[in-house]
Amino acid sequence: MEVERVQAIATLSRSVDTIPLEYIRSEKEQPAITTFQGSVLEVPAIDINESNETSLVESIKKASEEWGLFQVVNHGIPIEVISHLQRVGKEFFELPIEEKEEYAKPEGSKDVEGYGTKLQKEVEGKKGWVDHLFHRIWPPSAINYKFWPKNPTSYKEANEEYCKCLRGVAEKIFRCMSLGLGLEGPELMEAAGGDSLEYLLKINYYPPCPRPDLALGVVAHTDMSTLTILVPNEVPGLQVFRDGLWYDVKYIPNALIVHVGDQLEIMSNGKYKAVLHRTTVNKEKVRMSWPVFLEPPAEHVLGPHPKIVDDRNPAKYKTKKYGDYMYCKLNKLPQ
Ligand code: OGA
Ligand code: NI
Repeated sequence: MEVERVQAIATLSRSVDTIPLEYIRSEKEQPAITTFQGSVLEVPAIDINESNETSLVESIKKASEEWGLFQVVNHGIPIEVISHLQRVGKEFFELPIEEKEEYAKPEGSKDVEGYGTKLQKEVEGKKGWVDHLFHRIWPPSAINYKFWPKNPTSYKEANEEYCKCLRGVAEKIFRCMSLGLGLEGPELMEAAGGDSLEYLLKINYYPPCPRPDLALGVVAHTDMSTLTILVPNEVPGLQVFRDGLWYDVKYIPNALIVHVGDQLEIMSNGKYKAVLHRTTVNKEKVRMSWPVFLEPPAEHVLGPHPKIVDDRNPAKYKTKKYGDYMYCKLNKLPQ
């Protein structure tokens, strides 16, 4: 049987000197028109090695309330671990399309895992200038190695090593966010699924684009996750929406970028804000990023944390299964 080919943007990128119509955004979205030109936005950079926990909690809480996004410095993940993760991911995306297609998301699969280029149906059939690979990296029971590249050979080791380090950072951020809501340290993580919280890695590969002024990589969205922790490469492109404008986020070498996702906004009953963000692409350079979405299992029921809602602060969001939340969001149905 003929297998449907992944129409990789990377292939397209090498063969055109302008971009097909379906990649041209409307004027309301074109980066050249909608990006704030002036100062680069100084997203809070938080040192999570700060020994004074009270002040660390305060900074994380403030950033989550006011921005829904912050960068983490001094996170303790060795540079070699991060660069190894980046190197093997880049090597995978540089393989011939035939080899990458062995990891293609199976036709009709309801899960996101696999290699591909389109995630959500977009209005007017528009497309983002990006290819991706998704696979879970934690917990072991959620891992399907079928979607982990075997080439390069150290792909597995690099991802396992990064995941081990990342878990420590994620637990620390969760603890601070929990304390920031007036909960006990472990309570927020517990409500998000505790030990069954899933770490879903995505690699975004944004090939050079002949018209970066007209196209977008990932279109405006908030992440569905609780938290997303992202490693970028050195090519800037992340933008956040604030006070009606799109701003470039400053690249800080070796920092991790933390996004508050929909589930944290819900659990905090709107105190923490899921950040609206998108990505631009580059004319000459390949941009890559490695977000890890911290997601509850699909069957896990999640809503505003019972300890923070009462008569004076009634629940603003529904309590529902994460799987149902995802279904509505991906199909653009009301929650
Ligand atoms: C995403 C995303 C941002 C980036 O994949 O959800 O927002 O910097 N990526 O690539
Ligand atoms: Ni995102």
